[in-house]
Amino acid sequence: MAQYLVTGGAGFIGSHLTDELVRRGEQVRVVDNLSTGKRQNLAQHPNLDFIEGDLADLQVARRAVTGVDYVLHQAAIPSVPRSVLDPIASNRANVEASLNVLVAARDAGVKRVVYAGSSSAYGNTPTLPKAESMAPAPLSPYALQKLVAEQYCQLFTRLYGLETVTIRYFNVFGPRQDPSSPYSGVISLFISALCDGRAPTIFGDGEQTRDFTYVANVVDGVLRACHVKDASGEVINVATGGRISLKELFENVRQLVGANVDPLYAEVRAGDVKDSQADISKARRLLGYEPTVRFEDGLQKTVDWYRASQLTVA
Ligand code: UD1
Repeated sequence: MAQYLVTGGAGFIGSHLTDELVRRGEQVRVVDNLSTGKRQNLAQHPNLDFIEGDLADLQVARRAVTGVDYVLHQAAIPSVPRSVLDPIASNRANVEASLNVLVAARDAGVKRVVYAGSSSAYGNTPTLPKAESMAPAPLSPYALQKLVAEQYCQLFTRLYGLETVTIRYFNVFGPRQDPSSPYSGVISLFISALCDGRAPTIFGDGEQTRDFTYVANVVDGVLRACHVKDASGEVINVATGGRISLKELFENVRQLVGANVDPLYAEVRAGDVKDSQADISKARRLLGYEPTVRFEDGLQKTVDWYRASQLTVA
């Protein structure tokens, strides 16, 4: 049994990682400042080792990593538009806190840090799918911050011998993704709007594409990355390898929900990437990763979850 720390463990992806680790009988600690995460996401683990604190404070990071073997660093302000509006707050959460986690992990003798990188680092690459060997081209403060922290991880591996792996996420979705903010992930916004009979907004012409990835696939990739020896120091895409347009996404959700509502259209969002699709051959080769939940099945599970949680609230 190993000791894991999930930073941002009360958030959407972090809480799914926590669930799986608990299911496997591992020891888990969560640190979260509850800025976007919620205690409710961990209600199924009443005895969980939970630290409420902000990793931008080095003392919190040091306390959190004490006695830890593996750090799964998920804590972030995970939004492109929020970073465009407030790059300083976003940098503090995404870069400064990440540096604190790395310093604390190095000093505490942590075995490995697996970092939640982002596909946004690629920007508008001329070719698809996007492979890790392509030069990054961040288009937003968020994308740059995720890239900086990822490069800090690689630097810590080279300079101090701290093992790190960056998993680049591609538009992760699933149960518990919070639809309550305008900065929320698009699938959570579309489902919650259509379930309420409201019209979702499509920014731009709706022809932009994304490699939407169901959360269980990401959990699998991240947990594999803890233990594969040759993965240390690497950056690895984890996604499905496909892509669909926002218009297609809207149609899919509309059919699943059974709503008869048309979308509204608004200006394209500043910092938005046009197309995103992952080359997942490195994850296959290095991690033995294979996406196990297809987009359509993941979307169905997500719609079912939103419906069930609506019933609970009502
Ligand atoms: C980006 C990153 C992703 C990161 C995420 C965190 C890319 C390719 N991906 O996702 O790695 O984890 O930020 O937020 O850069 N949209 C609408 N209507 C809405 C909301 C969004 O049309 O109500 C559109 C957006 O303009 C965008 C797409 O849907 O084109 C996806 O948006 P969103 O879910 O916010 O994620 P990204 O910005 O793609």
